[in-house]
Amino acid sequence: MTVEKLKMHSPDLTERNIDRIAELFPTVVTEARDANGTPVRAIDFDLLRQELSDHAVDGPQERYQLDWPGKRAAAFAANAPIAKTLRPVREESVEFDTTKNLFIEGDNLEALKLLQESYLGKVNVIYIDPPYNTGNDFVYADDFAESNADYLMRSGQKSEAGDRLVANTEANGRFHSDWLSMMYSRLKLARGLLTDDGVMIVAIDDHEHATLRLLLDQVLGAENFIANVTWQGSGKNDARYTAGGVDYMLIYARNERLLRSRDTRWKEPKPGIDEVEAVARSAWQQSGADPEKATTIFRSGVRAIRADLEPAVFRYDQIDDQGRVFQAGDPASPNPRPNLMYEVLHPKTGKAVSTPTNGWRYSPETMNELITQGRVLFGPDETTSPRIKRFLAEQSDRVPYPTFTQSRMPGTKKLDDLLGADVFDYPKDTAVLTRWIGAITRDNPHAVILDFFAGSGSTGHAVMELNAADGGHRRYILVQLGEAVDHPGYDTIADIARERLRRAGVQMKQQAGLQGADLDFGFRSLHVATTNMADTLATADDLVQIALSAAVDSVKPGRTDEDLLFQVLLDWGLDLTEPIAVEEVGTRRVLSVADDALIACFADEVADRVVRAIAARHPLRAVFLDAGFATDAARINAEQIFREVSPETEVRAI
Ligand SMILES: C[S@@+](CC[C@H](N)C(=O)[O-])C[C@H]1O[C@@H](n2cnc3c(N)ncnc32)[C@H](O)[C@@H]1O
Repeated sequence: MTVEKLKMHSPDLTERNIDRIAELFPTVVTEARDANGTPVRAIDFDLLRQELSDHAVDGPQERYQLDWPGKRAAAFAANAPIAKTLRPVREESVEFDTTKNLFIEGDNLEALKLLQESYLGKVNVIYIDPPYNTGNDFVYADDFAESNADYLMRSGQKSEAGDRLVANTEANGRFHSDWLSMMYSRLKLARGLLTDDGVMIVAIDDHEHATLRLLLDQVLGAENFIANVTWQGSGKNDARYTAGGVDYMLIYARNERLLRSRDTRWKEPKPGIDEVEAVARSAWQQSGADPEKATTIFRSGVRAIRADLEPAVFRYDQIDDQGRVFQAGDPASPNPRPNLMYEVLHPKTGKAVSTPTNGWRYSPETMNELITQGRVLFGPDETTSPRIKRFLAEQSDRVPYPTFTQSRMPGTKKLDDLLGADVFDYPKDTAVLTRWIGAITRDNPHAVILDFFAGSGSTGHAVMELNAADGGHRRYILVQLGEAVDHPGYDTIADIARERLRRAGVQMKQQAGLQGADLDFGFRSLHVATTNMADTLATADDLVQIALSAAVDSVKPGRTDEDLLFQVLLDWGLDLTEPIAVEEVGTRRVLSVADDALIACFADEVADRVVRAIAARHPLRAVFLDAGFATDAARINAEQIFREVSPETEVRAI
């Protein structure tokens, strides 16, 4: 065993693509030399073409496709690795040690690359609300034209957050192209993070709706399109042609066939159901538990709010002897069912009630069960047709409608109430987000939800609301650029979002009281930053080749061991919310992640006995600072100790 170096840069996704092709067609993977003469794995296109016989298009041949200038560069930008890291910032975080939520400040292209190992195939829902490209938006210039090496060099350099924001105006001649390039690279990276049954929701308005749909068809597959949700959020009566005020949510599955095969069904509570149940509870109390009186009080209470209710809700108009809201439904089958034409006897007279012309709705067994449960309401004798009790509580869900009208004002008001007026324009309404994310994650209380255009943090707020409502443990990952704002209280949009999440958390914790003890209102704040390593301002290939040479002062000044730990977590693909315990082992500071899933010691002059004490705990992984070993002999000794004491531990150096 030799202690290998961790690579300490985001993965090269072209390599991952070659792995995928190799899995399908092992024979097409070959070896070639790159521009510098270095041997590299490559795909033999002639062989791949043979595998596809007549089903390949080449060169100028016509084909159906969405194309724009800059597309290739955008794909390249998505695949290129970066020598960056995520630095934790405890002071900005809430409940840093226990929370499972993440807030990442930085450019989302970089953040998505850094998350590739830790969250590959782990995100259940992506909701994004990107800049709509209205002609006034700022978009982040990715400098697509740079070569790989230049890109890495530059991205390894210190750059002020947001200093590459440029206004995208229609006059720039690449109006749609720039926006498409910006989205393409990010969507490609985002897709990889989705679980097989994951879902992506992208908010958009008319400016880029058509282009975005084609782009999503391309990145996620047209066969995975699920819905174009239309939200009428406002309207102007002085508009020329239509009142406008519409925006959309394009929803795609990562794999719609998989959802179908699992009989996945999205459901949301019928609107108004909570209000009606509240009216019923109060009527039941006021009536002194008298069903007839309660029904009268209930009906007048519901009349007052009926304008906001659908028939599917207000048809439930009675209260039974246990205070439950029900409607008396028809037990007759709507369609002819000759095999369900059986006799049902009246419980008092013992004579058969008249069998409906189409037969009954239920099998004889179910009917008997319903009678035993007291759910069949018979008349005074067999001459009155029986009714069936249907409880509101059992019919409280519906499949979400893809078109809805809902004022955009409450979303703005909610944020204003938390942070004061005019802090952030056009936040999304958490009520809309909870509806859709809730419908998709109804059966998955541990879902991970990612929003990499987080703005004021509405998605994080919505995830907390969903959990507070159903006791779930959904987690959020938000990414937001440190885009400067002109506001006395806040420097950047990321500051605004973090403050919103803090205040919303405090407010919801108060509201939840003791019942909220188990809910997560915290977040770990991380920043995209240059790598911690002083010797890695170079291309990725160079990075890999840095040998185990004595890398003195390999860590940049000012970086803490927790900074190093997070870069190691990213590199090893571990979850960034695992608990971290700080301990002393033989006078050296040691960080233990998730009960010794990983032990890190970034101290100088790590003595044998420290290595031995760490190995004795049999961690799954152990990592040391390469420069932490005084001599080559000390490093070799450390290898030897692990081989003896804990051969199963993966040991690495940085
Ligand atoms: C339409 S807003 C999102 C609003 C959000 N849904 C809310 O409810 O507050 C889009 C956000 O994406 C951010 N953004 C734009 N480009 C970005 C990038 N490259 N990386 C991270 N965030 C970016 C902008 O700063 C802006 O806050």
